[in-house]
This record gives sequence, structure tokens and C-alpha cells, in this order.
Amino acid sequence: MTRGTPPMDALRNRNNTSRLSRMIERLVTQRVCLDHAAELVRDLPGPALEIGLGKGRTYDHLRRVMPEREVFAFDRELHALPGCQPDEAHLVIGELRQTLPEALDRIGGRVALIHADIGSDDRAVDVALARFLAETLPALVRPGGVVLGDRVMPRADWVPIPLPEGVGDWPYFMYQVLQS
Ligand SMILES: C[S@@+](CC[C@H](N)C(=O)[O-])C[C@H]1O[C@@H](n2cnc3c(N)ncnc32)[C@H](O)[C@@H]1O
Repeated sequence: MTRGTPPMDALRNRNNTSRLSRMIERLVTQRVCLDHAAELVRDLPGPALEIGLGKGRTYDHLRRVMPEREVFAFDRELHALPGCQPDEAHLVIGELRQTLPEALDRIGGRVALIHADIGSDDRAVDVALARFLAETLPALVRPGGVVLGDRVMPRADWVPIPLPEGVGDWPYFMYQVLQS
């Protein structure tokens, strides 16, 4: 079992920890995974995508660890903190089911890295959205690129990457897109 698929005991234990502790585990995991993903695609050209801009925390981290790349951010609404908002050219507002299928023109070519941080409290909604992402993202990402996120996005042509050392007790999922 990879670190991305915690056993049920771990999930039960997580429910006994405070919301603060869970938030810390989540943020530590995100930072470590984003750093690792940025390193994995260091030699691969292309922009990065942040799917689920939210408050802009992970977007802000991504653009700092890969300052040479363009980072495009997607969300249905803009509620990112001041200072964590992309400029107009790099912000795509709308439902992902509409914006992602037509995103290639906007971003100008396939990307090296995609971070999908779309999780909500509604598991059924998340599972359906993650399935849509797994069907849609292959058209946007280069061979050899990395896709990571907070929900499982299984594809036969994406190889699961073990989570790096230092992650918190929080599920995260990383994949490398097979070279064609
Ligand atoms: C967990 S939050 C993202 C947190 C953010 N990455 C951060 O670090 O601050 C998930 C975001 O995904 C967006 N989202 C979820 N489903 C969406 C959909 N179907 N279309 C567009 N945006 C969606 C929500 O509006 C929300 O802002």
C-alpha cells in the first residue's frame, strides 16, 4: 500500500484529532508534495495549473517554487486572499466542467504540472469531479508531467508516485504521466 492510500485505522484515528491538527497535517502534506512535484518536473518545459484556487494558499506556494513558469488557476469563484490572486491572464473563473475542456487555447500548450485541490465535504461530488478530471486532464498535460491532488484520479497511463518523505497524516495522490 502506498502512502496515498491510508488504511482504515488511520482514517478512523484522524477523526479523533482536532480540526487544527487535521489542517496542519493537510498543509504539511500539500507543501511537501508540491515541492516534490516541482522538483520532478524541473527539466520539463510548460506552465503549471492550479485547479481549485480557493484562498490561494497552494497557488501562492506553487508560483514561488517554480518562479520561471506561468501558473494558471481555475475556480468557480474568486475568493483568494489579497496577494494570492493571479492576474487576469492567468485566472480562469467558471465551472471546471466548462473551463477545463476549452483550456488548452488559453494556456497555449500542454503543461508540466497539474495540482488539483478540489476536495469538499461531499464525497460523492468529489468522486464524480475527480473522475471528470481523470478523463479531461490527459489532454492538458505533457508526457512525463506530474498530476497531484487531494482525490484519487486513477488512470492506466498515469503511474502512481509514492509520496515523499515528510508528508503529514493526510491522503494525497501523485501520478506521473507516461512518456508516449
Ligand atoms: C479545497 S478548496 C482549494 C484550496 C486552495 N487550493 C488553497 O490552497 O487555498 C477547493 C476549491 O475548488 C473549487 N471548486 C470545487 N469544485 C469546483 C467546480 N466544479 N468548478 C470550479 N471550481 C470548483 C471551490 O470553489 C474551492 O475554492
